[in-house]
Amino acid sequence: MRHLSTIVSIITVFAVHISAIEFKSLDHIKTKTRPDDQAAAVTALIRRLIPERAAAFTVVVNPSLGPPRLDTFQIESSNNKVNITGTTGVAAAWGFYHYLKHYCGCHISWAGNQLNVPSTLPKVQPALKITSPNRFRYYQNVCTVSYSFVWWNWTRWEREIDWMAMNGINLPLAFNAQEAIWHKVYLKMGFTQKDLDTHFGGPAFLAWARMGNIHGWGGPLTQSWHANQLQLQHQILKRMRDLGMTPVLPAFAGHVPNATVRLFPKANIINGTIWSKFYKDPQYCCTKYLVPSDPLFKTIGKAFIETMIAEFNGTDHVYNADLFNEMNPVSNDLGYLANASRGVYDTIISADPKGIWLMQGWLFTVNGFWYKEQIKAHLTAVPLGRLIVLDLASDILPVYDRTDSYYGQPFIWCMLHNFGGNHGLYGRLDYINKAVFVGRIFPGSTMVGTGLTPEGIDQNDVMYAFMNDLAWRTQPANVTAWIDSYAVRRYGKFSQQSHNAWRILKDTIYNSMENTKEHNRNAIVSRPSLKSQPDMWYDWREVAKAWPLMINASAELGTSPLYRYDLVDIGRQVLQDISASYYAEFQTVFNKNNKTAARSCLAKILDVLLDMDTLLATDSHWLLGNWLESAKALGTSVKEQKWLDYNARNQITIWGPHAEINDYANKQWAGLMKSYYHRRWSLFAFELDIYMDEHRVWNQTRFNELCLNTIEMPWTFDTSDFTTEPVGDTVKVSRWLFEKYKKDISSRTGDVVEFVDVSSQRWRPNKPYMDNSS
Ligand SMILES: *[C@@H]1O[C@H](CO)[C@@H](O)[C@H](O)[C@H]1NC(C)=O
Ligand SMILES: *[C@@H]1O[C@H](CO)[C@@H](O)[C@H](O)[C@H]1NC(C)=O
Ligand SMILES: *[C@@H]1O[C@H](CO)[C@@H](O)[C@H](O)[C@H]1NC(C)=O
Ligand SMILES: *[C@@H]1O[C@H](CO)[C@@H](O)[C@H](O)[C@H]1NC(C)=O
Ligand SMILES: *[C@@H]1O[C@H](CO)[C@@H](O)[C@H](O)[C@H]1NC(C)=O
Ligand SMILES: *[C@@H]1O[C@H](CO)[C@@H](O)[C@H](O)[C@H]1NC(C)=O
Ligand SMILES: *[C@@H]1O[C@H](CO)[C@@H](O)[C@H](O)[C@H]1NC(C)=O
Ligand SMILES: *[C@@H]1O[C@H](CO)[C@@H](O)[C@H](O)[C@H]1NC(C)=O
Ligand SMILES: *[C@@H]1O[C@H](CO)[C@@H](O)[C@H](O)[C@H]1NC(C)=O
Ligand SMILES: *[C@@H]1O[C@H](CO)[C@@H](O)[C@H](O)[C@H]1NC(C)=O
Repeated sequence: MRHLSTIVSIITVFAVHISAIEFKSLDHIKTKTRPDDQAAAVTALIRRLIPERAAAFTVVVNPSLGPPRLDTFQIESSNNKVNITGTTGVAAAWGFYHYLKHYCGCHISWAGNQLNVPSTLPKVQPALKITSPNRFRYYQNVCTVSYSFVWWNWTRWEREIDWMAMNGINLPLAFNAQEAIWHKVYLKMGFTQKDLDTHFGGPAFLAWARMGNIHGWGGPLTQSWHANQLQLQHQILKRMRDLGMTPVLPAFAGHVPNATVRLFPKANIINGTIWSKFYKDPQYCCTKYLVPSDPLFKTIGKAFIETMIAEFNGTDHVYNADLFNEMNPVSNDLGYLANASRGVYDTIISADPKGIWLMQGWLFTVNGFWYKEQIKAHLTAVPLGRLIVLDLASDILPVYDRTDSYYGQPFIWCMLHNFGGNHGLYGRLDYINKAVFVGRIFPGSTMVGTGLTPEGIDQNDVMYAFMNDLAWRTQPANVTAWIDSYAVRRYGKFSQQSHNAWRILKDTIYNSMENTKEHNRNAIVSRPSLKSQPDMWYDWREVAKAWPLMINASAELGTSPLYRYDLVDIGRQVLQDISASYYAEFQTVFNKNNKTAARSCLAKILDVLLDMDTLLATDSHWLLGNWLESAKALGTSVKEQKWLDYNARNQITIWGPHAEINDYANKQWAGLMKSYYHRRWSLFAFELDIYMDEHRVWNQTRFNELCLNTIEMPWTFDTSDFTTEPVGDTVKVSRWLFEKYKKDISSRTGDVVEFVDVSSQRWRPNKPYMDNSS
């Protein structure tokens, strides 16, 4: 909360928008599509979304509607129709959704849409005109492509790009098919197919192979994979450009195939550092790194961008490259760090003189390497205004405020919010409602946009809806009023019970005051141990009060699919928290050597896991089968399907050949609860039973090995199918479960049930604000 309290009072004084520094260097970052073509793309979007009502909307794109650089939209009624004008297609689509949201009470989200447009369109008179306070609305983390988009076909991509446009996103990553381009480039340079087969990651691991964190794991990629991705990328780029977006393409960061050493023996290539726990396997670890000052760097990087531009019919001039993601550079010498970034930038502009480099600022948050001097040297080696830094996790770990606003380089304020696509409810409504505006008016602020950078999507829709809303607001929202209207729009109807439920969620689990990173982690979906602690930064019994309210809302909202989705989500959260309470209780009684009580706790945990499976199975969004089947659908042979199935299974469980990043991307999906987590806890209960009987000391290492070899690893190689069809009625199952657990929810903590205080053990960045330069 550092500067917040003082600066928030300034906001009230300067209620009107105060613009940050303008960057003329970014003026060419704008759409090249003809206004009429953008308008046509938006008209087509409206037809996809509400075919029967589309004729009532006219769309015009007029670049001079608002001030330069800032997107503007205007909504105006004209007889029985609504005219939407935007400076770009995105601005018009944004205006269209603004109208749907704030006049028609509609809602679009990852979990589904509520598009009950009133039969008489509400009037907007006089015209409503809104100008965005920032130049950019950015979307995606480099990991999102792997954790969420990896198996998508064009049908799903089209829906997402519509979602982006309607939320004003004008700067999305467009990362598909980069391996296909690399494949072309490297073959031409003399690499063999075999050299590349050990280099590219598998589909589920592309994000980390691209950043040189690992190589080869999950691969090799097939020709049909490349072909599929190329076709998708053509469609994605065309649609993004038609809508007036600026898709961000990849650039070269220096991570090269091992064979580069053989082919270019004189090049300055160093061994990459170990990332995470991938030290066990040199086959995957320590990807070779070509030093950017070496002439070969420019040769390769330039060829890559040129080949990509040729393949994809041009460029929009913004390129992403991440050099040191969670891996420290070999030297903290300021000249070295400056040369590294300068080399990347020079390479970009050697292929595209108008090129702008966009980097994730995550590297600056994670360890004690990047002190002020190092950050400054690295950033300012690139001409000011030619590098955009994503302040990747402004919601928990802002960096702009301790680097004098990135030493003058423009940055984008991003909400990261989610790690690994985990499913826990979580958010910081009040915090971001203030912090975004603090970012804009911070003295000397170089903020040029807002953004969403979740590692995975399909969770916590509410937070993304809120953040998207902040993108056009010039002052903080009234969160209470906002959440009230959110609940109505989401379900298409007011219900006192759901209203009350959302008020509770808003004040508790969606209002975290701490910048904990483990917010959405839970012991139940982690490998069991005597040490791991349930993460409970909120009063879960308060949160649980929302559950019966939501169940009771079924009388009014029962026909709404989004209501059912949320009912599953809230029930899932309460069950997860109940299991955590059993787990905490277990640890207490186990330490007191009370075997009977310990056994009973473990039995209860196993029971909750099965109940969670039953609840999740009632809604199509919560099924493991979807993930696995959409992966397999991309395979063109049985062999390929098995490979894709394996990639899909490995990523969400052991993540790596030997559980290197175990459980990081865990999911609470029906099928997975029962076939994976329940079995793991059963093994734990079984083994502990023996230990307790034999009065032995628990050996966690032994258990981990047993678990990996008998349950986890075999599960990833298994090929059995999981259904994509929901089973059971969400409301009935929820009622039944609530009756079953209500005593546990309301019972007070006695001497047995104690909640372990984890506040002192929570993850904190390593010496985040230590500084050797001041
Ligand atoms: C709305 O658009 C229609 C069709 O382009 C046009 O004829 C009409 O004049 C517009 N109305 C207003 C109020 O701008
Ligand atoms: C990497 O390349 C070197 C030199 O060409 C070779 O000796 C080594 O076996 C290769 N390593 C792997 C893991 O392919
Ligand atoms: C890089 O790693 C390889 C093994 O993969 C090793 O043989 C070589 O000596 C290392 N090079 C340097 C400069 O450390
Ligand atoms: C390539 O882009 C140009 C404009 O930059 C456009 O006129 C042309 O139709 C595009 N070609 C394809 C195949 O998309
Ligand atoms: C940085 O690059 C310059 C020019 O290529 C070179 O002279 C200098 O030695 C490099 N510095 C470091 C520390 O690598
Ligand atoms: C915020 O909205 C709530 C609900 O509509 C209302 O009760 C409250 O007075 C509002 N607060 C402010 C400061 O306007
Ligand atoms: C839900 O409805 C039941 C039956 O009408 C009632 O007994 C219960 O108090 C309600 N619960 C809440 C939290 O409103
Ligand atoms: C073990 O715990 C149970 C309930 O949790 C309690 O009733 C019992 O007295 C305890 N036994 C001992 C030996 O402490
Ligand atoms: C795209 O994928 C979805 C879900 O996997 C599937 O339902 C749909 O039929 C697919 N669309 C096409 C055109 O294959
Ligand atoms: C625990 O188990 C591991 C692996 O089986 C074994 O290497 C280690 O010696 C055991 N530790 C103790 C204290 O028994």
